[in-house]
Amino acid sequence: MIAIPTDQTILSIETSCDETSAAVLSGGELRSVVISSQHFHDEFGGIVPELASRAHMRSILPIVEEAMTKAACKPTDISAVAVTHAPGLMGSLLVGLNFAKGFALSLNVPLVGVHHIEAHIFSVMLEQEHPKLPFIALIVSGGHTLVVQVNDIGKYEVLGNTLDDAAGEAFDKVGKMLGLGYPAGPVIDKLAKNGNPDFVQFPRPMLHDPSYDFSFSGIKTSVLYYLRDHPDAASDNLTDIAASFQRAVVDVLVGKTLRAASDMEISDIIAVGGVSANSELRSRFAELSTQKHFRFFSPRPLFSTDNAAMIAMLGALKLARGSFSPLTLRAEARVPLADILS
Ligand code: KG4
Ligand code: ZN
Repeated sequence: MIAIPTDQTILSIETSCDETSAAVLSGGELRSVVISSQHFHDEFGGIVPELASRAHMRSILPIVEEAMTKAACKPTDISAVAVTHAPGLMGSLLVGLNFAKGFALSLNVPLVGVHHIEAHIFSVMLEQEHPKLPFIALIVSGGHTLVVQVNDIGKYEVLGNTLDDAAGEAFDKVGKMLGLGYPAGPVIDKLAKNGNPDFVQFPRPMLHDPSYDFSFSGIKTSVLYYLRDHPDAASDNLTDIAASFQRAVVDVLVGKTLRAASDMEISDIIAVGGVSANSELRSRFAELSTQKHFRFFSPRPLFSTDNAAMIAMLGALKLARGSFSPLTLRAEARVPLADILS
């Protein structure tokens, strides 16, 4: 059982990728969260790091001010500043981290450095119903696809990982082939609702492999070959292609996560990260969990994708355990979850 501390007011900041976000968590409750997404990357078909960090610089102050105003929070109310320091785009991380350091220093309050992927795990604590430890986490985003056994805060056993693309990356690359803009995950999700998921049988790579690892580049390549061989499909059967691709990805993600939970004899399962906002992924998890007597948890879609509320939550949990960071804390582009020291 993880208890949420009620005696702190945390200001949190997230700038690891293309969302500038700030939140205030006070008395164990989320008081505000403001998320500004950098939609201008669409025209480049992916994130341009230099433009991302410049946009964070422009928006960080107004976003923090808005979060504090919405929460009716004065600077003197703040007991700690939590911030993502890894992993992510270096220039983007530095904007949030340096801002957070300045804020913490000027208020003379602790700084709590947070690992972005670890924060995705604890995004489930932002909802009413919480999983009990140990639980199995599917962390599925633009950069990561991991199955992890969570034994406690800071105690993770990585059971499976992607051998090539992350699931979100596959959604985004297939979206690019279909001319859907960036990020394509939400668009494919929407289109798939009106398509036939059995229109094309794309492969389910590694579904029956005994490991809990994933591989998504094969599905992506199959879509590419299908579109090459059926040049009109992207216009005539767009919803069917979207539904067939999504069905293949969901089959693998759900199948392997449930098998891990079953093998480890763990009843509680969570799905977090941007791709966990996917409506078919959620409904399949919910349906199969009920059938197979697991309990399934996922945060609301707003907290699946990048946000500072999850940073505040993990910051509060870490602070309550006396874990805070020196003002010399460094931004780091890559820190595997398995390397987090508890
Ligand atoms: O967690 P996130 O916001 O950022 C990272 O840390 O990567 O995840 C972003 C990813 C993108 O690849 C996006 O296409 C995908 O999550 N995504 C979705 C959906 N919403 C966002 N993928 C499938 N279905 C969705 N509804
Ligand atoms: Zn993320």
